[in-house]
Amino acid sequence: MHGIFLGSDGATPQILDLHRANRHGLIAGATGTGKTVTLQRMVEGFARAGVPSFVADVKGDLSGLGMAGSPTARTHGAFTTRAAEVGLTDWAYAAMPVQYWDLFGRQGHPVRATASEMGPVLLARMMGLNAVQEGVLTIAFHLADREGLLLLDLDDLQAMLAACAARADELTATYGNVSKQSVGAIQRALLQLRAQGAEHFFGEPALALSDLIRTDDAGQGVVNILAADQLMASPKLYATFLLWLLSELFEQLPEVGDPDKPVFVFFFDEAHLLFDDAPPALIEKIEQVVRLIRSKGVGVYFITQNPVDVPERIAGQLGNRVQHALRAFTPRDQAAVRSAAETFRASPGVDVATAITELKVGEALVSLLQADGAPAPVTRTLIAPPVSRVGPVTAEERRVLVATDAVGDRYDVAVDRESAEEVLAAKAEAAAASAAADKAEAEAAKEAKRGGARSNWDVMATSAARAASSSLGRQVANEIGRQVFGGKRRRASGGGGVMGAVVRGVLGGLFRG
Ligand SMILES: Nc1ncnc2c1ncn2[C@@H]1O[C@H](COP(=O)(O)OP(=O)(O)OP(=O)(O)O)[C@@H](O)[C@H]1O
Ligand SMILES: [Mg+2]
Repeated sequence: MHGIFLGSDGATPQILDLHRANRHGLIAGATGTGKTVTLQRMVEGFARAGVPSFVADVKGDLSGLGMAGSPTARTHGAFTTRAAEVGLTDWAYAAMPVQYWDLFGRQGHPVRATASEMGPVLLARMMGLNAVQEGVLTIAFHLADREGLLLLDLDDLQAMLAACAARADELTATYGNVSKQSVGAIQRALLQLRAQGAEHFFGEPALALSDLIRTDDAGQGVVNILAADQLMASPKLYATFLLWLLSELFEQLPEVGDPDKPVFVFFFDEAHLLFDDAPPALIEKIEQVVRLIRSKGVGVYFITQNPVDVPERIAGQLGNRVQHALRAFTPRDQAAVRSAAETFRASPGVDVATAITELKVGEALVSLLQADGAPAPVTRTLIAPPVSRVGPVTAEERRVLVATDAVGDRYDVAVDRESAEEVLAAKAEAAAASAAADKAEAEAAKEAKRGGARSNWDVMATSAARAASSSLGRQVANEIGRQVFGGKRRRASGGGGVMGAVVRGVLGGLFRG
């Protein structure tokens, strides 16, 4: 069996079997009991075995995986003692190959997905929509699909929803109730999402999974670290993003059964955020993805303070378990201790419920899956120390690591290609322009009837209005809209290029005249 040495009770080594590592896992324990250190040890083990991983760095302390630990660190004494206690003879500080990511693009490479990749179900969850509103959002997606409109960013969604509101009667006749109120509620929720910073996330270039599932030149699995400290202020964005990533992995990876080692491993820290007031339908979906993704060779590990935070049907699928100490002060604590104890395969001589409340920092009750797939009897285990830094990287270290990794600069600049917002704006402009042209023509005809000669000015106005409904005119009209109303904020070139200059000239002339 090849596996990851997690620790020992002095006699029996606890080894996470790589062949069973896709059967998921749980790391639980009260605050300060050693969960993050255990996770770090696991992630390092995967990296060294050539398995790439993804971790959400909620407190910033996992970023240290990118640097070697140090003899001057606060933890040095405790770690060297622990290494000796568990019988590690080759323990030496080392850095892991890391890639930093950040939904807000500040502490790592920007991560983006398009609204259509995200889909109406996850988006509805992200925005906290009710069932009726979710139905309307689904119709908006359907309509965009049918009319060949791309939903890439939040502007596209906003424009699509406005179009739905304008066509509410027609849509209601075809699809059922699409009320202006529901659309309005979604639009307000969208504003909320923007206020949480989600507009950085929606758009292109979208994240390619091949950039996550990668090994370095030495064959070590890359550790992808998502900066999640700010994300914690937007728990829905955090939860939805991670779910999206999981479902992308599920959809894109081929079926492999139980491979010799996992293809990819995924760590959900603060896992309770995923489940807090999640509707049953969503929990069902998570349960399903977790169950099915196993045969794609992806292992999912949940990290949480209280094991009862993870719904039973999901907890039941987590084969590899590390339970750090729990407190037993309140009735809820005591219930958690009991339920944690019940999930372990009993072991002679271990009173699990009592042991859970007595464990030291960095000590845990461990039960890993054996070669035959059954969980090993629970063992009280000292967890081996990690070799990378425990604690955050500095801003300068992060900058260098981001600048020198294999991702390069391909995600650095957002691109904004023509999508629903632009097309819908163009349609609206064209409709308005052709109405104006009709009106001008009618006026001109009236004028002609009255016998007055058409001035040059009239002729120009009419043809200008017609031009505006043609393609070039449409572009100009669009640009005007953008310049005046500031439609797009993320445009790379500030001035709007040649078209911008033309437009500024035209507008300048108009306002001066
Ligand atoms: N295996 C270990 N060996 C030696 N010391 C350890 C070990 N695990 C944890 N510690 C010590 O305990 C401290 C806290 O551990 P850690 O940050 O992993 O706790 P945590 O459970 O993640 O806490 P929180 O819930 O607050 O995130 C570490 O900084 C380290 O000093
Ligand atoms: Mg922690």
